[in-house]
Amino acid sequence: MAERVYIFDTTLRDGEQSPGASMTQAEKIDLAKQLESLGVDIIEAGFPAASEGDFEAVRMIARQVRGVSVAGLARAVKSDIDRAFEAIKEAANPRIHTFISTSDLHMKHKLRKSPQEVADMAAAAVAHAASLTKNVEFSAEDASRSDWEFLAHITERTIDAGATTINIPDTVGYAQPFEFAELIAYLLAKVPNAGRAIFSVHCHNDLGLGTANTLAALHAGARQAEVTLCGIGERAGNAALEEVVMALHTRGSLYNLETGVKAERIFRSCRRLSKIIGLQIPKYKAIVGGNAFAHEAGIHQDGMLKNRLTYEIMTPESIGRASEDSEIVLGKHSGRHALVTKIEALGYVLDDKQTTAVFEAVKALADKKKHVSVEDLEALVLEELYRGQEDAFELRRLSVMCGNMDLPPTAAVVLRVKGEQEDRKLADFGIGPVDAAFNVINKITGRKPQLKLFNINAISGGADAQGEVTVILEEDGLRAVGASLDEDIIGACAKAYLKALNRLEFRKENK
Ligand code: KIV
Ligand code: ZN
Repeated sequence: MAERVYIFDTTLRDGEQSPGASMTQAEKIDLAKQLESLGVDIIEAGFPAASEGDFEAVRMIARQVRGVSVAGLARAVKSDIDRAFEAIKEAANPRIHTFISTSDLHMKHKLRKSPQEVADMAAAAVAHAASLTKNVEFSAEDASRSDWEFLAHITERTIDAGATTINIPDTVGYAQPFEFAELIAYLLAKVPNAGRAIFSVHCHNDLGLGTANTLAALHAGARQAEVTLCGIGERAGNAALEEVVMALHTRGSLYNLETGVKAERIFRSCRRLSKIIGLQIPKYKAIVGGNAFAHEAGIHQDGMLKNRLTYEIMTPESIGRASEDSEIVLGKHSGRHALVTKIEALGYVLDDKQTTAVFEAVKALADKKKHVSVEDLEALVLEELYRGQEDAFELRRLSVMCGNMDLPPTAAVVLRVKGEQEDRKLADFGIGPVDAAFNVINKITGRKPQLKLFNINAISGGADAQGEVTVILEEDGLRAVGASLDEDIIGACAKAYLKALNRLEFRKENK
């Protein structure tokens, strides 16, 4: 019988700390629902003491996502723990995740506390958390650079104080797989009450070893893996959920460990994350990248034709890929019922009004490009799902001339500004048509953000493909991503730019 490994997903907390990956409350709730349907065991929904926005998002997730445990992060201080519990208390199975640094370096320079003081704080924090919920996780931050004996001591004390999960993070991605496995084996053997807690690992990817360290620790006896979709997270990111799960799956007889993740929902979950944060999955990303199942070399293609096993260690179908990828799903004459079935199969739930809006958008697109692919459909669904009700700026009209020898590129924009009766109108020039559109939007809104990223991608093959545009803007120390798609590429650029601008406004208001 395979032993169970618990999957603790921290995409919404550590993942959100990834530059450019911040999400609105509605997006967090949507992603949490996707994670629930993916079959993770615990969702770390955020760090409630960090901000009002974080608190609210965690609370909404705790209320709405009932099929998994919801965790809130807290430093090892009473006020953080109380705040975290306040946010998660309505969850079906609330978990408080409290942490403190245990390495000499962190204790001396960051905390300015002695090991004894740190151990006392950790035990007191866990005892307080345990008085609020039976589900308490303690993390020894920077564990992989901590003194092993001290780590064993603090582990024993926190288990005695009521911790049911002990997390050993490789906070700075410093550990090597064989060494990290040894540390887990040491703690399991040395800590007298180790049998009363589940041992967990949380590995960062600074040396590209996040997944390798996680797997080595699981092999050595850890039974919880802390991961994120696509490996997003602080700095170089965290161990990727899809890599850890598929390694256990593909090498099942080696590990003899199983998770509750429904592997066939992995691809759609990663794609959903990518659409939400507006950052593309790199083509070479293991498991979910565009090239992960592409065979280029002739010798490989020949082998694949003879027997797929020659070069394929897992199938695209096993992560739910081939059935959804670029398949043509809907045409001009498709009915609403076919659309609803397809939307549900992709894992989205829309109300009647949203379904009608998507149906109309699909028809309009099918008029222009005959067939609508799953990617087109998903983009339209997400566009509808995240349509900002309270957006500060709304694009009403856009006309762009690319320019020639006589006239520089020109854009004319009509914009609705929240709270104003009259639309604002302006036309101006730019270096190119996109620059002209961005320039006019800046002038009309009175904003001058820095353009940090501008990316255009054709989302399905063919000259009639929709252009998917991602824009990252920065202003007053705040960053926001906007993504949009349209068969009119300049239109997609303007919409993406405005989305990022709207998010910046939202962020400023909620700072
Ligand atoms: O990397 C880390 O140590 C963390 C802890 C808060 C678990 O994210
Ligand atoms: Zn981390």
